[in-house]
Amino acid sequence: MGHNPRTLTVCRDPEELGQQASDLVSRVICEAADTQGRAALALAGGTTPRALYLALARPPLVEAIPWNRVHLFWGDERCVQPDHPESNYRMALETLICRVPLPEENIHRMRGDLPPQQAAEAYEEELRGYFRVPMGGWPRFDLVILGIGTDGHVASLFPGSSALEETARWVASPFVEPLQAHRLTLTLPVINHAAHVVFLVAGREKADILRRVLAEEDADTLLPAHMVRPLRGKLCYFVDEAAHHQVSLGPLSSTKD
Ligand code: 6PG
Repeated sequence: MGHNPRTLTVCRDPEELGQQASDLVSRVICEAADTQGRAALALAGGTTPRALYLALARPPLVEAIPWNRVHLFWGDERCVQPDHPESNYRMALETLICRVPLPEENIHRMRGDLPPQQAAEAYEEELRGYFRVPMGGWPRFDLVILGIGTDGHVASLFPGSSALEETARWVASPFVEPLQAHRLTLTLPVINHAAHVVFLVAGREKADILRRVLAEEDADTLLPAHMVRPLRGKLCYFVDEAAHHQVSLGPLSSTKD
């Protein structure tokens, strides 16, 4: 199956990973704001994106980005209150939102505080209201930021989840067995319709999964991270050296910093 070119940027450490990724993210935002009048980003949760969000929220980028034309969405969310320590919204609030002049109406939080199914339906309505695509169409995010779990999950699409087979809904609320909890997540078609998908992968504990994901292992070990293949978008990996140390460079163009 032919794929768009993927790029791999290897950075010294999570700090530099955040810095390098922020250059791409700000470029995509400015381009979308210029050409479309606004930019739609889907944020990842977890810990790796923190350095990226902090880099966007400090000079020079904090002054260069037209925040009034940026719309923040989430790729996934835990089913918790927004002030809960595990909330992806709270992490973005602390590292980005409270540091930049984003209009309140540009922040499109996944309602982790609602019952999961209701929250998923509400979020899909919010996305439809923003992207206004005809029925059967798919939203095109300017950029989706993703991490990769050590099990190969992306957003809250975990290995073996029925949400991976979703072909109609934009947002799912799977019960995640390993976590014994529901999660909210964009579905694969939404992710794969994005103009840019950026993977952020750092730490030695990610070395094995990154090697497997980049090696495009045979189909029967297909991981959620393998299923992220933007149809007409760019796929960019930002990894640190600790995560990269097991990778024998495969079919990727790579830039080493
Ligand atoms: C979440 C994330 C999840 C994350 C990976 C990697 O809600 O936890 O969206 O998909 O990206 O689990 O997390 P780390 O960056 O913390 O390793």
